[in-house]
Formats: sequence, C-alpha cells, structure tokens
Amino acid sequence: VFDLKTYLEQSRAHIDAALTRYLEAPHPRPRIVAAMAHSLMAGGKRLRPILCRASAEAVGQAPSAPLMAAACALEMVHTYSLIHDDLPAMDDDRTRRGQPTCHVAFDEATAILAGDGLLTLAFEVLSRPEALVGIDPETWRQVICQLALAAGHHGMIEGQMRDMAAEKHPLDRKGLEAMHRLKTGALIRAAAGMGARLAGASADALGRLDRYAAALGLAFQVADDILNVTGDPERMGKAVGTDADHGKSTYPALLGLEASRRMARQMVDEALQAIETFDNRASPLRAIARYSIDRSR
Ligand code: IPE
Ligand code: IPE
Ligand code: MG
Ligand code: MG
Repeated sequence: VFDLKTYLEQSRAHIDAALTRYLEAPHPRPRIVAAMAHSLMAGGKRLRPILCRASAEAVGQAPSAPLMAAACALEMVHTYSLIHDDLPAMDDDRTRRGQPTCHVAFDEATAILAGDGLLTLAFEVLSRPEALVGIDPETWRQVICQLALAAGHHGMIEGQMRDMAAEKHPLDRKGLEAMHRLKTGALIRAAAGMGARLAGASADALGRLDRYAAALGLAFQVADDILNVTGDPERMGKAVGTDADHGKSTYPALLGLEASRRMARQMVDEALQAIETFDNRASPLRAIARYSIDRSR
C-alpha cells in the first residue's frame, strides 16, 4: 500500500536539497540571500513542488532536470508570495513556518526585496540551459508560460488583490470561491499542469489533472481558512485567529465551520473523481487530495 508520509518526506528531502543548491552564494553570504533563505528554507510543506512531481509520475515519466527546476521554481514563487502576504501592508503577520516572518527577522525593505529576489530567481532557474535537458523547447515554453500566468495578475496576484479588497467589502459565496481559486488555486493548478506537461501528458490527462488540481486548490485554501480558526499555532508555525481579527472573507466566516468542512470534503471528492480513470501511479495524487483537508499544518 502507498505510504503518504514516507512519500512526502522523501520528496521534501529531494526538493530541499535542490533549493539549497539554487541559493548557494559566496561567503560571506549577502544579506539579501540570507533573507531569501530565511523564508525559503524554513521548512514549508513543499506541496506545490511535490504535486508537480506527483502529477508527472501519474501520467508517465518526466526528464529529471526540467522537473526539478519546475518544482523548485514553483516553491520560490510560492515563498515569495508568503513573504509579501505577511508584510504589514498586507496580512501583517509575525510568524511563518515556525520562524519570525522575513520582515521581522530582517526589515521591511529587505523582505520586499527578498520576495522580489525569489520571484526573479524562479524564472532564472527555468532559463538555465541544464533545465532544458531532455525536453523540447515548445513544451518548456508552455511550462514557463503556465507558471507566469498563474503567478501574475491573471491568477494569484488578482486573488491577493481581491483578498485585500474584501477586508473592506466582504465577499459573497461566489466571490469568495473565485478569490480562493485565484489566490491559491491558480498556482496549485499550475503545479499539476507543469508536471504533467513535462511527462508528455495527453490532452485528456491534462484536462483531468487540471480539474483535479482546481478542486484540490480550493479545498486546500478552505482548509487553510478552517485551520486559522481551529488550528494549533505551534504545529502550524503561524498565528491563528488572524483572519477574524482582520475581517477577512473566509469560508468559516461566511458559512460556519461545519459547512466549510463539508464543502472541503466535496471538493476533495471532486478532485478524486477527476482522476478516477488513472491507474495506481496516481496513488500519490489521491493521497495528497485527502491530506489537503486532513492536515494539521
Ligand atoms: C499557505 O500555503 C498559504 C496558502 C496559499 C494557503 P502552505 O500551507 O502551502 O504553506 P507552506 O508552504 O507549507 O508554509
Ligand atoms: C495566502 O493566503 C495566499 C498567498 C500567499 C497567495 P492567506 O493569507 O490566507 O494564507 P496564510 O494563512 O497567511 O498562510
Ligand atoms: Mg493573505
Ligand atoms: Mg496571510
């Protein structure tokens, strides 16, 4: 039987090793690199890179260098988004991944630049010659394009804009779902799509994985909202109760905890349904879907 815990641990170790290599810098390490590493290497779950690799695995085999570059680029973009999300001008949080947030450990200007640095590094990594080994240029272009679109103002950035605007004008259910699909769902969809493309997925498999990841992304953010109410801050490495303090539009605020949990479970069922025709190479994807709402961090 498939053991998710071992799978996650092994994937994380690979990804962390690659991320460390990408951040290598001459000694003494420049302050900006220290700030980037502070957030990047603080021990995130690495869900997006893991999902990228698991999606490739589910449909075939991707060449390892491009797959690892894509996986790491996803984590760099994600970590940049967290650094900026925590800034005083945004969610104003002081703890992340069990550490002081970047602007607390360093200073606000450095945190802004560390986010910028990680976002830029993501695309630099993707443009290195070794990242293309074994992949045709058109596929690689599509992979880069998918990441850029998901991260930018068509995706995550627009989601973050709506999240901030909703502090003043609360969203209805439809608006809330749309915001979650953008701020969190877009990058998660990109993660699955990038991995699948690199493994040469058929159009049908790509479509199924996209439906899987869209549902997973929504479930994942609903779980994040729920954990902000019920979670253990020690375990999560970040503060709880902050959404309510800021008057954030969230599922628990709008529907209550029980209905939010139900809705998250429905989304996981939808994710599983989307890939029900896949064979047991999709076991990791199935386990990740269940884990997305059962998690305590
Ligand atoms: C937190 O993401 C912010 C969301 C988009 C929900 P994660 O829960 O993946 O955070 P890390 O990467 O494990 O720290
Ligand atoms: C984070 O959303 C979304 C992005 C960083 C794009 P939240 O603000 O809800 O996530 P946490 O709870 O701070 O991790
Ligand atoms: Mg936020
Ligand atoms: Mg936040």
